[in-house]
Amino acid sequence: MKSLNQPSYRIVAIPGEGIGPEVIEASLKVLQHVARLERFTLQVDYGYIGRVALEKFGSNFPQATAQLCNGSDGIVFGAVSQSGLLELRKHFDFFCNLRPIRIINSLLHKSSLRPEKVEGLDMLIVRELVSGIYFGASGRASDDRGAYGYHTMCYYDEEIRRIARKALQQAQQRQGLLTVAHKENALPHLPWTHLVQEEATKFTGVMVEPMLVDNLAMQMVLKPQRFDVILAGNLFGDILSDIGGALVGSIGLLGSASLNGDGFGLYEAIHGTAPDIAGKGIANPLGTLAACILMLQQWGETQAAAKIIAAQDRILAKGYRTADLSPQEGEILVSTEILIELLLEEISIIQHSELGVLDEQCR
Ligand code: IPM
Ligand code: MG
Repeated sequence: MKSLNQPSYRIVAIPGEGIGPEVIEASLKVLQHVARLERFTLQVDYGYIGRVALEKFGSNFPQATAQLCNGSDGIVFGAVSQSGLLELRKHFDFFCNLRPIRIINSLLHKSSLRPEKVEGLDMLIVRELVSGIYFGASGRASDDRGAYGYHTMCYYDEEIRRIARKALQQAQQRQGLLTVAHKENALPHLPWTHLVQEEATKFTGVMVEPMLVDNLAMQMVLKPQRFDVILAGNLFGDILSDIGGALVGSIGLLGSASLNGDGFGLYEAIHGTAPDIAGKGIANPLGTLAACILMLQQWGETQAAAKIIAAQDRILAKGYRTADLSPQEGEILVSTEILIELLLEEISIIQHSELGVLDEQCR
């Protein structure tokens, strides 16, 4: 927590598996660098969930990890292939998952869509993260027709209302359009439209636009620029946010914040463990870094966040690309490590030029 002199934060880093450890290490370097420049300190503890935790502690989500996270200022998470992540989200009630999908100008041509279709694209997916079908009654059983499996999509009205309030708040601070993903023609007992509309009466200036989720997926590809905030339940939000990866050029660029009611959060990229490229040093660290930027913003360290964003935009504008962005002619393929080195250098340049401007102003 912040003290009067030098703010100090404690985070728990959970690298996980696959490319998780690489992108965590890379992002922490950047965080420590901006911490020095912005004069705050960052203490990092390491925690385990998923396969690594199972081997070490005999559980996917050990008590020790939960305790370590208690009282910290944020959890920065890499990737896991096995469960543990859902338990972590549930344990701290991280119900509000924010997934910003913004195009970076120098990557317009990397989108799966034509550049003019994604120019200026800036949307936010608000995904409910601790309920719905991932947490409903489930199992395997058998009857006279044979063996079967089931997962149940169950939402308490209040669970829909509380995430609706978060999405409405976001829409109010943005362009004022809230699109609600639902499937009421097939799932009429989950009345997202009605519940969100009721909550919306407390939020002036927000237009609520209900949309069947299958149509919404199509509209995200046909006219992505029309969206502002999209509210979705756990399953639909998971699926829709991957479309975002195709829109911006690589899922490796996207990060997310998952917050509980107190504003405590888990920060992670949207991508998975990417086992095919794990250990090769070529993963894109910008997704996890995007999540770290959200953490800095959540703490109010907006200068630090702005510096990372500016440096990242400059590096990309100069043509540096990790492999997931398929470098073309005139672009330079770089490893995770080189990209981070370039980024640190650029942050320092920005810092010095700012100090230069300040000097000028003082003279
Ligand atoms: C995501 C991921 C996770 C999810 C998996 C790894 C459980 O796909 O964060 O989007 O489904 O929530
Ligand atoms: Mg997903």
